Amino acid sequence: MNGWLIVNSFVKWDKFSEIYELLLDAGKKVGVSLEMKTSSDIFCSVQSEFSSLKLPDFAIFWDKDILLAKRLEKMGLRLFNTSESIETCDDKGQTAIALQEGGIRTPLTFLSPKAYPAFGCTDMTFLRKAEEKLGYPMVIKENRGSFGQQVHLVNNSYEAERLIASFKEHPFIMQEYIEESAGRDVRVNVVGGRVVASMYRFNDNDFRSNITNGGSMKKYEASEAQAKIAIDACKAIGLDFAGVDVLFGKEGPIICEVNSNPHFKTTLECTGINMAEHIISHIAEVMGS
Ligand SMILES: Nc1ncnc2c1ncn2[C@@H]1O[C@H](COP(=O)(O)OP(=O)(O)OP(=O)(O)O)[C@@H](O)[C@H]1O
Ligand SMILES: [Mg+2]
Repeated sequence: MNGWLIVNSFVKWDKFSEIYELLLDAGKKVGVSLEMKTSSDIFCSVQSEFSSLKLPDFAIFWDKDILLAKRLEKMGLRLFNTSESIETCDDKGQTAIALQEGGIRTPLTFLSPKAYPAFGCTDMTFLRKAEEKLGYPMVIKENRGSFGQQVHLVNNSYEAERLIASFKEHPFIMQEYIEESAGRDVRVNVVGGRVVASMYRFNDNDFRSNITNGGSMKKYEASEAQAKIAIDACKAIGLDFAGVDVLFGKEGPIICEVNSNPHFKTTLECTGINMAEHIISHIAEVMGS
């Protein structure tokens, strides 16, 4: 069985290459031949449909190049994760819709009305409606973002309006602030419908617990309820594997977000568990070898 590891052509961070190395090494360990390909390596016209390339049995798609992923799937290539699940995770609005459909508990969430570059959000009536239900402080997040950088806690209408104006036409969500979870959450790593490793992440100086944003981590055993909601969230989105952020709610765990390409190097450092090995074994199982 042979596969590709498809990665972005332009991102040159060590943070990413470390993940690629871990996946390639895990492949070698169990005899799954894995070849790294950048999106430029397999660049071709839509009409030629990758005809100059011999497509492998499967590909691990470690990018968010949804159009490329969709084209490859149309040619019959099985992607881990699928284009649809990556697309859902890459947009916090779409994630909220998919989780709601799957009956998964999430913070009460409003999606921003569509804005256009020439106008932005010129009328804040929608914010008045969100304020009525959410009150302050309120969490506002751009639909696309990572490492906690596009996640904000606003304390009043003035701060909310200024922030929303700075987004211009970019979509965002307005969300209930889960106060019980201030500065802490659980990263639950799921592969093939099973929890393989969990971490408790905390930050005493910020409501966001992301490690890249200065948070700390420690090994953690997810409770049954946390494990169940993380597994259910992956099922609802159709993910083979993911890093799921679980908040502490008054009445039990709540899903914060789901990452289709989790930075599992931090999980490895914290727990000694290598998610790459689980991902490869899962693929081998699904592909029947
Ligand atoms: N509604 C909320 N209530 C309380 N805390 C929250 C809420 N939403 C987010 N947080 C905190 O902010 C952090 C970052 O939020 P989120 O995971 O949605 O964004 P991100 O930037 O996409 O993160 P990642 O790098 O994991 O993709 C969470 O891990 C959590 O600690
Ligand atoms: Mg997160």
